[in-house]
Amino acid sequence: MTQDAMIDADTNFGPAGSGKHFCNCRRSDNLDFFLAWLANPLRVASIIPSSNQLARAITKEISGSTGLVLELGPGTGVFTRALLARGVAEQDLILIESGAEFVGRLRDQFPSAQLFQRDACSLRTIQLFGDRKAGAVISGLPLLSMSPRKVAAILRGAFHHLSVDGAFYQFTYGARCPVPRRLLDRLGLRAVRISTTYANLPPASVYRITRRKTLH
Ligand SMILES: C[S@@+](CC[C@H](N)C(=O)[O-])C[C@H]1O[C@@H](n2cnc3c(N)ncnc32)[C@H](O)[C@@H]1O
Repeated sequence: MTQDAMIDADTNFGPAGSGKHFCNCRRSDNLDFFLAWLANPLRVASIIPSSNQLARAITKEISGSTGLVLELGPGTGVFTRALLARGVAEQDLILIESGAEFVGRLRDQFPSAQLFQRDACSLRTIQLFGDRKAGAVISGLPLLSMSPRKVAAILRGAFHHLSVDGAFYQFTYGARCPVPRRLLDRLGLRAVRISTTYANLPPASVYRITRRKTLH
């Protein structure tokens, strides 16, 4: 079985041949997600979880050899399941989720992952891995509905925990990178769009954000 097929098998719980294209089809996930969105539309920012296709796209450069992976805003865990299917060990996962309605379910699903119920803006101050750095950050955070100050705090915190050549992966429903160019310049970062998937409601693109290489 290919790795992408494994991700579908691991993340798609809908009946065979059912409309699995736009959501990960765990009915209670969808209902819980929708109720969370009703209660807090700005924080949740979508009425259903991301699709399996988007989960594949945002995790496609990650494997068991990436090492520690930090996930921001896992929600009902569609990207988390994709990370496990890519070969990331559950104990190498650190999940940061501020929504109380998602935290209990994440703890049940991923008992060996480290889970923090925290605002990702405080990432810089959280003691995550001792001396170890993460190989990647996967973000499901709604950056477009956050202030530039919050986005800057999240990126500073994330890059504090990332290894020198580590990457931050962010999806967006927008037409361009959700981190403004000015902020990327200020933080010495560059963003590259690595995929666009139409099999998501709404269609979404994934950006890889890395440190700019300095010339010696
Ligand atoms: C668009 S949903 C994405 C959920 C999931 N990753 C997916 O793609 O289906 C945004 C998620 O980020 C969480 N979130 C929003 N703001 C946050 C913050 N400041 N710190 C931590 N989590 C946050 C929400 O509770 C929600 O789970």
